[in-house]
Formats: sequence, structure tokens, C-alpha cells
Amino acid sequence: MLPPSMQTPLFGKRVLVGVGGSIAAYRACDVVRRLRELGAIVRVAPTRAAAAFVTPMTFEALSGMTCLGGVLDVAHGRIPHVEEAHASDLVLVCAATADLMAKMAHGLADEALLATLLAFPGPVVVAPAMESHMWSHAATQANVATLRSRGVHLVGPVEGVLASGRSGAGRMAPVDDLVEAAAWAVCDKDLAGTQLVITAGPTVEDLDPVRFLSNRSSGRMGLALAVQAARRGAQVSLVHGPLRIAVPAVPGLTPIAVRSAAEMHEETTKRAARSDAAILCAAVADARPRTLAKTKLKKSKGELTRVELVPTRDILADLGAARKKKKAKRPVLVGFAAETGEVLAYARGKLAHKGCDLICANDVGEAGSGFDVDTNRMLLVWPTEERWLPHASKDEVAWHILDEVKALVARTTRRR
Ligand code: C5P
Repeated sequence: MLPPSMQTPLFGKRVLVGVGGSIAAYRACDVVRRLRELGAIVRVAPTRAAAAFVTPMTFEALSGMTCLGGVLDVAHGRIPHVEEAHASDLVLVCAATADLMAKMAHGLADEALLATLLAFPGPVVVAPAMESHMWSHAATQANVATLRSRGVHLVGPVEGVLASGRSGAGRMAPVDDLVEAAAWAVCDKDLAGTQLVITAGPTVEDLDPVRFLSNRSSGRMGLALAVQAARRGAQVSLVHGPLRIAVPAVPGLTPIAVRSAAEMHEETTKRAARSDAAILCAAVADARPRTLAKTKLKKSKGELTRVELVPTRDILADLGAARKKKKAKRPVLVGFAAETGEVLAYARGKLAHKGCDLICANDVGEAGSGFDVDTNRMLLVWPTEERWLPHASKDEVAWHILDEVKALVARTTRRR
């Protein structure tokens, strides 16, 4: 079992939520609640202006802790902002006003939050919220550049309706994005500098304007791999077919939406060339209709029973062949095999036939493994060995697979 800190990276982490004087301060309440649901220990540091929008009592009720008070609230020889800076794993500033960011950029310390930030050496995530003209103003943009150059991670702002009723860039990023950025920020970056392309989900092969061929893949395994890899610092291109679940906004994760096997082939191949590893988890359609009818096929004319199918190109096999032709070791190639019985034999066959380094195979007929469930029991198959992973959540399975990808990438790097 993975320790809880790896399953939910915020578990047991101490997060200081700084809140500025913006109407978006009310959404910080939701951020505090979500962080606590994920097991974080949360304390809130509202600025004096923030307290005019949301009372500290609200934040104290939601966090279960007293708010960090004024910068001069030194009692019994204890200096709260210094203690807080030592205790915190992460500072998440939401909402960050233009004024608050200007003060952060210039090292001012007239609020407990600002004093804590000056004493804090760890990761800082900032979610700006303001009117679009304030956001685009040269002074604000210069302050943003300064903060970025110091390693502060900014989330948003996004386009949308603003406090004035106008629309534009300046709205605070969605709560889910802030929570995901917080999870990313507290993770060890052991995959930093690694470029990955990951495929996920089904592909859809159109038959006519209303019908298509597809499969039951939910994309969860590929998504788990992409999210975990990005949290561990990899730069991830996620080439995915139509998914029923949203791709979370994780820093370093770039989703590329495609529909057909041909589109997935093109987008994946061009990214694989500059990747350290390609992890092909998608359930790519094996065949597509030879032609795409412009008008709806008529069953009365027997057109539906005469559909001619042609094979799609195998992305993984093509990458394997291209690598072999160049006598190259990169990118590391990882494939998946969903079988119903004789898992090891089929996986060995695929490993050889597609020319990859690792096949992750599972029996989709087994309860709690495969499509549309949150768990998997995987057999990892390398050219000279194999190993079963324990039956576990797709997040946990993804974690183990990424450890193996990391080892394979390290081996090719040494051999270059
Ligand atoms: O042959 P099979 O479909 O079982 O192989 C599965 C593996 O090959 C998966 O890694 C899948 O993503 C990949 N694949 C591919 N392109 C195809 C078919 C499968 O990359 N057209």
C-alpha cells in the first residue's frame, strides 16, 4: 500500500491559506474546506482587507484553527508569523489582489501573511483575482514577473464575469484548479526534467453523421498516470480520446484532445520524437470504416450490414519499428494489454511484436480490474522478467508504473 501522503499528496500537509481583500475571498472558504477533506491541516491568514469581506470567524470554523492575526500579535514571547513559516509545507494565496501581489513582490511585511511569506522558504501558490484592467496593468504584470522569477506558481486568473459585472480576464481560477495546484506543489519532483507522452481513453471512428465505432475505455488509468507524473514534475502531453471524466488542471500536464485513431497516431508520434518515454494506455480502435458516409446510412437499404472495415495503424508498433530502425533506445516505450485470460502469454507476444520495453497487462474479465472501475491488478512484463502488482487503486498502480518508467529512462540516459 502506498502511504496516504502519496495517494493524496495533501494528507497531513500543513497549508497556510492567505486571503486578500477581494470579493473572491468568499471562494477561499471552499478552498479551505476542500483542502481539509483531502487531509491537509489548514490555517488561514486573512489580510485586514479580507476580514471586511469574510469574517475570520468563518475561516476559523472551516479550518478548525485560529486565524493568523496581525503582524504585531506577539504574545508570551512567541512570534506567530515566524512559527507559521517554520510549520507550513505550503502557502496558498487566494484571492491575491493587485495590492497583495505588489507587496509580495516588494517584500513588504505589514500583514501577518506577508511577514510569514518573507520567512517561508517552501512552495508558494498564488491565485490572482481582480478587474481585468488591474490585471493587465504594467505594474501588476511587472510584479507577476518578479514573483514568477522567484519560483512563485500562479494559477489563473481566468476569463469570466468580474465583480463589476463586466467580463474579462481577472476571475479567480476554479477551486478544483487551486486544490490541484496545491497537491502538485507539495509533491517531490523526482520526475523533473522528464518529458512524457501518454495516451488515454477510447478512440472514436465515425461511420456516418450519427454513428461511430468505439469501446468501453474510461481513460481513468491513462489519466491517473498523467496526473501522477505531472505531480512528480514531469512535462506530460496527454493525447486522449473523448473522455467522460474531466482532465484536471495540473501544472506540467498538457491535454491534447483527439477523436480518431489516425488523429491519435499523428499527435502521439510527433510528440514521442521529443519524449523520454511514451506510455500508450489508450484503447485505440483496431478497425475503422473504410469510408465516412456524408449522409446517414439507411438500414432499409441494407447499408448498415455492408459496412467495410479497414485496420487502423498501430501507434505503439509504429513507434517500436521506428526506434528499431534508428537503432535508438529512446523513447522508452510502454504498452498496455487488456486481456480476458492467458494474460502473460499475450503480454509477452505484444512486447516482442510491438518492440516495447514494458507491457502492463491485466485481465479485464477479473472483478475490480479494467474498464470503468477505480482499481486494477496489473502484471508488468519486461523482456526477461515479470511481476504482479498488488490489486490497488489506479492511482497507486500508476505510481508503481511510473517508478518503472523512471528506472527505464535512467537506463537509456546512461547508455546514450
Ligand atoms: O494490440 P492491442 O490493442 O491489444 O495492444 C494494446 C497496446 O497497443 C496498448 O498500449 C495500446 O495503446 C497500443 N495500441 C496502439 N495503436 C493501436 C492499437 C493499440 O498504440 N492501433
